[in-house]
Amino acid sequence: MKNSVFALMVFFFSQSLQSQTPAEKIKVDALVKQMTLKEKVGQMTQVTLAVIAKGGWGNQDGAIDAAALKKAVVDYKVGSVLNTTAHALSVETWNKIIKEIQDEAKNTKLKIPVVYGLDGMHGQTYTLNSTLFPQNIGMAATRNPELAVAMAKVTAKEQRASGVRWNFAPVLDIGRQPLWSRFPETYGEDVYIGKTMGARVIKAYEEDGLKNPTAVASCMKHYLGYSNSRNGKDRTPIYMPEIEMREYYLPQFREAVKAGASTIMINSGEINGEPVHASKYLLTDVLRKELGFQGMIVTDWEDIIRLHDRHNVASTPREAVVMAINAGIDMSMVPSDFSFYDLLIEAVKKKEVPMSRIDDAVKRILALKFKLGLFDNPYPESAAISNFGKPEYQALALDAAHEAMTLLKNKDNVLPLSKNTKVLVAGPSAQSISALNGCWSYTWQGKEEQWYPSDSKTILQTIAEKVGAGNVSTSTGKGFDNALNYDAGKLTAAAENADVIILCIGENAYAESPGNTRDLALPDDQIALVKAAAATGKSVILVLTEGRPRFITGIEPLAKGILMAYWSGKKTAEAVADVLFGDYNPDGRLPFSYPKSSGEIVLYDRKPTEEVREVFNDNISSGYDPLFPFGHGLSYTSFEYSDLKLSDTILSGNAKLTVSIKIRNTGGRDGKHTVELYTRDMYASITPSMKRLRAFQKINLKAGESKLVTFAIDKNDLAFVNAKLKTVTEPGEFEVMIGDKKGKFIYKQ
Ligand code: BGC
Repeated sequence: MKNSVFALMVFFFSQSLQSQTPAEKIKVDALVKQMTLKEKVGQMTQVTLAVIAKGGWGNQDGAIDAAALKKAVVDYKVGSVLNTTAHALSVETWNKIIKEIQDEAKNTKLKIPVVYGLDGMHGQTYTLNSTLFPQNIGMAATRNPELAVAMAKVTAKEQRASGVRWNFAPVLDIGRQPLWSRFPETYGEDVYIGKTMGARVIKAYEEDGLKNPTAVASCMKHYLGYSNSRNGKDRTPIYMPEIEMREYYLPQFREAVKAGASTIMINSGEINGEPVHASKYLLTDVLRKELGFQGMIVTDWEDIIRLHDRHNVASTPREAVVMAINAGIDMSMVPSDFSFYDLLIEAVKKKEVPMSRIDDAVKRILALKFKLGLFDNPYPESAAISNFGKPEYQALALDAAHEAMTLLKNKDNVLPLSKNTKVLVAGPSAQSISALNGCWSYTWQGKEEQWYPSDSKTILQTIAEKVGAGNVSTSTGKGFDNALNYDAGKLTAAAENADVIILCIGENAYAESPGNTRDLALPDDQIALVKAAAATGKSVILVLTEGRPRFITGIEPLAKGILMAYWSGKKTAEAVADVLFGDYNPDGRLPFSYPKSSGEIVLYDRKPTEEVREVFNDNISSGYDPLFPFGHGLSYTSFEYSDLKLSDTILSGNAKLTVSIKIRNTGGRDGKHTVELYTRDMYASITPSMKRLRAFQKINLKAGESKLVTFAIDKNDLAFVNAKLKTVTEPGEFEVMIGDKKGKFIYKQ
């Protein structure tokens, strides 16, 4: 009874984030009745800041061109503006930009405010001195949804302080293709982590109520299947049977809709030859009718015209507009001209797009604007501005970076290092800021270090602060690409007086297509550094700053310690130093399987036929053979699992099964630890996975302390998509796995 009341409350709460109040509906309907076709189509048009900025894309200071602004807002009646021109701008500049745009909107007949949208994927990207947190891949490693919630709340506050109320986040694409350049923006390869983190983050953005100066509208993206590109390059073809789509790619969006996401952005790619922007099936039948999404659908960058000039499914630009709008698109991120506006008006006049579809789209856009309080006050709010850059955000950024750090290897307990150790800090990331933050960091690509806050620190700096300058040497220069960083001879010479070499390697920042790579192998010049370091005979510790797994199989044996730092934002360098020297006991767990090589990309939730390597007369169970498995992550203490107990051996119907386990910290240090519960369906009509993550809990254990951890699972946690594309739980035997312990139970309908 209690449960069902709670479920009902959750339902109404989540619906209320997206759907309208009766009063809002009356206002929206009344407004739409007064609107001309031009005004409606204008609302559906979104342009980029360069269209209204002085000097266009070349603009550096956010100054608005009054004539261009008038043309966009008064003549074309655009409903939305997005993006920056070259780089991040100050809070004051953003506030000025927003004020000028909203002032101009007051010069239109209906005075409909403009909604501004910005990307804030790991903190507010385009505002100078905003707080940047780990990328989603690092947040997934924390296994700590509370941290993800806290980070989203800060992102919302810093975005709203900038006068912007619409965040193009979170990315809900699943990271099952490590070549893909947007892998760092994902929560990794597992569906459960993705849908749990994603839904919590969406609620965090929106739950205060969108009128509140602490909230922003979220934009779940990129619907659907974007990450599954066959060749690994961004925005290239996806071939995916619907059963796979529903099992691995759709659940995150289903949960996000339930969590109340206000808007959604569409995948620029194509699935089975059909661009998603033209797919009435995915946009209307699945998203609207099946998932029940009531919010607003926006395209990604230029994705309507690309139906014509890239995908070649529309023979004219107008046909592209007709396809997309009839498929269900509400707003077009055009974004560099007004072609969409002209073409859609023409198409409606020719009756190629029904007026009912236009009204539907416009109502959703206006509903969003009402919800955001833009009709009450479209201007930057002083209550919001005062929330920018609070000191506690730095502490949160450090907590998040700490919990992201994933210790992959610690041979002979080489780590933590004593603070008296003489260390050589080398490698291209040693004096780089951008390689610690990655994409969407003050610029789109994140590479231009001049825009980062002046108190951002490098790994060399934080290590020197910790152990004293006298204990630290380096062979590197400033910036990732500095030629000094790749000089193996210099490294060898500099290592002479060091006991340990800390080699910071990996990837510099990149985003989207510029991040496409020909090879996941770590570049030769970095491999050479590792070999040179090992040849000195000193202990080598690798610090990996990377957005996706770069192959290190050949050099892994040369390192005694390996710390995966990901791109963990503002406090990456502090967190790295804390872990290396024992001021923080690492607790991150890999959110993906770290592959050995391109022929060994097998995911943890493999099928039985991937588990077995068939050799004539000899089947070997080593099909899943990553360098480091999904969920791997070492600690400076040790944890022992015992007393796995199931509340019953039979789970019936809609009942819950309680699974408990005792965890003891058997080492000498306090530590956090994530307990993960996996299940395996022993036999099913669709080949079952060897294991699937169904729940996790992060706990804190003092040295010597024990805790009982309890999970409750039900039939939904055991479900899969069957051959009829229905999500079902079939009766039969299941295995539950926590740590090294296993139990069995039977599910009966
Ligand atoms: C990206 C989106 C982003 C948009 C606006 C596109 O290139 O794919 O994720 O929201 O640009 O910046």
